[in-house]
Parts: sequence; C-alpha cells; structure tokens
Amino acid sequence: MRIIKVKNYEEMSKIAADIIAAQITLHPQTVLGLATGSTPIGTYERLIELCNNGDVDFSQVTTINLDEYCDLDPTHEQSYRYFMNKHLLTKVNIDLENTHVPNGKAADIDAECKRYDELIQKKGGIDLQLLGIGHNGHIGFNEPSDEFVMGTHCVNLKESTINANSRFFNTTDDVPKRAITMGIKPIMQAGRILLIASGDDKKDILKKALFGPVTPLVPASILQLHKNLIVVTPLDL
Ligand code: F6R
Repeated sequence: MRIIKVKNYEEMSKIAADIIAAQITLHPQTVLGLATGSTPIGTYERLIELCNNGDVDFSQVTTINLDEYCDLDPTHEQSYRYFMNKHLLTKVNIDLENTHVPNGKAADIDAECKRYDELIQKKGGIDLQLLGIGHNGHIGFNEPSDEFVMGTHCVNLKESTINANSRFFNTTDDVPKRAITMGIKPIMQAGRILLIASGDDKKDILKKALFGPVTPLVPASILQLHKNLIVVTPLDL
C-alpha cells in the first residue's frame, strides 16, 4: 500500500486525477472503474480540465461504474448514471457507448448482475479502480456483512447508508432501499486501486480499513491485501 498524504481536498483531487490521466496516457484503452459520491467530484472536475487542455484523451477509454440504485430511472437526478454523465462522461471525449453503469431498473435484477459480471470479464477486467469509502467501511455498495460477496449483487442498503445518502433526496423515504453493486472480486482483481477519502468524519473508518483486521465487517479492509493500492488523503492516519 502506498499512502500519499496531501494538504487538502483540492490537492487530493488533483493528484488522483493526475494518476488517472497518466494511466490513460500510458494505456489509451484503459478500463477505468469509477465511483460516485461527493469525494470524486473534484477528481472528475480536474480530469475534465485536463481533457479540455488536450492533456488526456478519453476516446479509447472504457468506464465501468461500481454501483447503481435499484428502481431509479437513469434520467433521475439521483441515479448514478445521471451523476456520471453530469460530472464526467458528457464533458470529456469519451464514447458514451463505452461507459457502463448497472441497470437498476432491469426487470430481472439477477440477470442484470450476471450480465454486469460478464461485461467486466469481457473487457478483460479493470485496469484502475477509483474508490471512495463509506462511513461504515463500504466500498461500492458492499456493506458490512458476515462475508465478502464476490460477484455483482443486489444489496439492501444499511440504515446508515440510507441516512448518509438522504442528503441528496427530499426525504429519507425517497432514498432507494436497494442497489446493485459490483462485488469484491473485480475490485480486488483490478490492476491498480486508487482510494480517495477526505473529511474528518472519514478518519476513523479509513484507519480501521487500512490498519485494522481484514474483515467483511469493514469491507474496505480487504484492500490491504491488494498488491497495488494507492491511498490519496489529507487525513492524518
Ligand atoms: C458510490 C460508492 C460509494 C461511495 C461512498 C462514499 O459509487 O462507491 O461506496 O464511495 O459511499 O461516498 P462519499 O464520497 O459521498 O462520501
């Protein structure tokens, strides 16, 4: 594990974007695993800037997102497809056909999970996975549980996650209760993992995840076992 300690959110975003841009420049056909949430917004802003300046070219890149709420239309402002299009994908020179988010509206959610796993495999796996971390240690929507779930699956969101996400909805009742998430296997099989976290409220869980016991009760703790994990954070660990 390599920890890059930065001054603040802005520097974290700049360094994370530079790592992603360098990956794309070295490997133009990179498969990027992407996350939503508030943490990567600055990273995406910086990537857009780099793209506009001609410093990174997304034309051959494929993106595969970690997760999506069930039952939200992709045009819903809180869907992760909407988020990705708004914060990155429609603002860089990527072919939208090469961008993938689970279909939370699929009639058959199990079939959708299987399709997503097959898609990841068909693309040859993820080259660089960008991750945030939830307050309970979740990555994607892999919530604390008795075991690590390997493949893409549907999860019932924990109350803490629903509450954390309610800031984006009118009321807590409007927050979807289920989501589709990539499992632990494709995340751990990614060539490189880039974990970003900022805000004092993330300090304890980040410490636990990086230095505590590896346990499915803190899903991000499994990242300790990855051979190429980079953590960029302003937090004192
Ligand atoms: C979302 C995702 C989640 C977030 C986590 C932190 O695609 O992967 O695991 O990374 O919930 O969210 P923020 O960044 O909003 O604190």
